[in-house]
Amino acid sequence: MASSTARTRWSIAGLVLLFVLVLGFVWHSAQRGMLGLSGDTSAIERLTGPQFSLAALFAHMVTGAVVTLLSVVQLAAPIRQRWPRVHRVSGRVLAGLAFITGVGGLIYIALSGTVGGLPMSIAFGLYGTLMIIAAIQTPRFAMARDYARHRRWGLRLIVLGLGSWLYRLHYGLWYGTTCSLSDSLCGIAAEPDFSGLFDQINLFAFYLPYILVLEWWLRREQRVQGDHTPYASS
Ligand code: HEM
Repeated sequence: MASSTARTRWSIAGLVLLFVLVLGFVWHSAQRGMLGLSGDTSAIERLTGPQFSLAALFAHMVTGAVVTLLSVVQLAAPIRQRWPRVHRVSGRVLAGLAFITGVGGLIYIALSGTVGGLPMSIAFGLYGTLMIIAAIQTPRFAMARDYARHRRWGLRLIVLGLGSWLYRLHYGLWYGTTCSLSDSLCGIAAEPDFSGLFDQINLFAFYLPYILVLEWWLRREQRVQGDHTPYASS
C-alpha cells in the first residue's frame, strides 16, 4: 500500500515535470503558427512553397502544440481514474487534432518538400502517416469498446504526440553535451542544412526507437497478463 502510494506520487511528479518541460516548445509552436496564420511574414523564416502549403504548416503548428500538451494530460492515470469524462473529451480532441497535424505536415511535405531534403521528407512523412493511423485507430477501438486495443493505440498516439518535442529535446541535449566538452566539439555533426550525422540519425530517432520500445513493452505486458491490462476491464 505504502509502496503504491509512493509510486503514484513519483508518477505525478514525473508528469508535472514533463508538463513543465514541454511548455516552452508548446508556446513556441502555437505562437509561430498563429503568427503565420495571421499573415505575419516573419513567421516564414526558412519555409518555402505555395501559400496553401504554408497555411497548412502553420495550422499544424497550432494543432501540434495542443497535441503535445494533451499527450501529457492523457498519460496522467489520476486524471483518467478520477475524471473519466475529462479523459474522454481530451482524448477526442487529441485524436482529432493529431489527425489535422499529420495531414497539415504531409500537405507541406508534398507541396514544398523540407529544408533537409529527401531524407527529412521521408522521415517526417512516415512520422505524419503513423500519427494519422494512430489518430484514427485510437477512437475507432474506443467506439468498438475494444478497450485493450484502444489503450495500445492511445499509447502509440501519445508517444508520437510527444515526438516533435523529443526531436528538439535531442538537439538541446546534443548541443548541451558537446558544447560543454569543448568549443571545437560544440554542435559537431549537426549542420544548418541538416546534413550532419547527428541530424540524419535524429530524423528517425525522435520517434522510431520510442515506438519500438513501446511495442516491446506492450508485447511483454500481453505475454504476462494476457488481455487483462488496466484498461481491458474499464
Ligand atoms: C506533435 C505535434 C507537432 C508539433 C508541435 C510540430 C511543430 C512544428 C514546428 C513549430 C515547426 C517549425 C519549426 C520550428 O519552429 O521549430 C514544424 C515544422 C515542420 N513540421 Fe511539425 N510539428 C508536429 C508534428 C508534425 C508531424 C506529424 C509532421 C509530419 C507530417 C510534421 C512535419 C513538419 C514539417 C515538414 C516541418 C517543416 C520542416 C522544414 O523546415 O522544412 N510535424 N513543426
